[in-house]
Amino acid sequence: MQDTDKDALFEMLRSRLHHVIPVAEIRHKAEIAAEINRLKKERHAVILGHNYMEPALYLSVPDFKGDSLELSRQAAKTDKDLIVFCGVRFMAETAKILNPEKTVLIPSPKAGCSLAESITAEDVRRLKALHPGVPVVTYINTYADVKAESDICCTSGNAVRVVQSLANDRVIFLPDRYLAGNVARETGKRIVFPVKTAAGLQPAEPGLEYAMIGWDGKCEVHDQFTVEDVEDIRKQFPDVVILAHPECRPEVTAAADFSGSTSAMIKYIQQKTAPQFLLLTECSMADNIAAENPDKEMLRLCSVRCPHMNEITLEQTLLSLQRIQYVVHVEESIRRRALRAVQRMLEIG
Ligand code: 13P
Ligand code: SF4
Repeated sequence: MQDTDKDALFEMLRSRLHHVIPVAEIRHKAEIAAEINRLKKERHAVILGHNYMEPALYLSVPDFKGDSLELSRQAAKTDKDLIVFCGVRFMAETAKILNPEKTVLIPSPKAGCSLAESITAEDVRRLKALHPGVPVVTYINTYADVKAESDICCTSGNAVRVVQSLANDRVIFLPDRYLAGNVARETGKRIVFPVKTAAGLQPAEPGLEYAMIGWDGKCEVHDQFTVEDVEDIRKQFPDVVILAHPECRPEVTAAADFSGSTSAMIKYIQQKTAPQFLLLTECSMADNIAAENPDKEMLRLCSVRCPHMNEITLEQTLLSLQRIQYVVHVEESIRRRALRAVQRMLEIG
């Protein structure tokens, strides 16, 4: 590894992160990042990095950064033999679904997702039997066997467009009850979604129908934001612009100024002028936006972190490239069926 590579990375990271990370730590991270970038070239690999990655990783090693939809598109068109996915397992699996002949690595086997864990393929089969002919829209935050049972996938970036693209007025939407509520509000369609039990959920939110199958799908991170948080922040910072991910409760997205995918929120902040911005989403993203846009003041609610995304570190990414670990496998018959749902989504644009 050339010292100049390390030095250039160190200077770039120091200029952007010295407000949040001590310089000695930045030097250590720059050394790891430089070695990752050297190995990446040697192994003809591409690194895809989700917007939630911790700032030193986010700024230094991904060839492409983005939300789930953008990274799926990059995975679909890469010509590299090796894909290292700095994100969670359902994202790496989607890259494998699109690239059966390539090796896809995820740097930590522990990077799951509470939404993806909330539903099984058998749950979807039971739902379809209960509602024959109703199309199944599956959020990308699910595993391949669940996608394989679905008609079409969606991400937070295109959920409304995907549901609008279907002729039916009634749609099964899996597995996020809050995203389902947000999509019902924006599309005016009736959305059937699975819950473990309707106790405490009655009456159903407008536009939603419960099906007693599966578990209460919700993101353990976005579930924590409340309307009281929004009101408290507005009292303290009257001109703050608040952005909420569509995995937040519908009443929270309604109280925010903007709701969109992680990349949509980044673009919105880049284009807007406001005294402060607050993101109701994984906290690292505020650090990443602040690092790339020093003119923007980001408020933080940093007690809310995604433990799964936080499993992916520079150290784990280096080990991943050194040891070719952890290889993502998707059984071929499942992969082929899941691919139909993913491709149908990508064709929507
Ligand atoms: P995006 O597709 O908006 O990046 O969201 C992914 C995710 O897991 C949000 O919690
Ligand atoms: Fe899953 Fe929520 Fe983490 Fe996103 S933030 S990966 S939805 S647990």
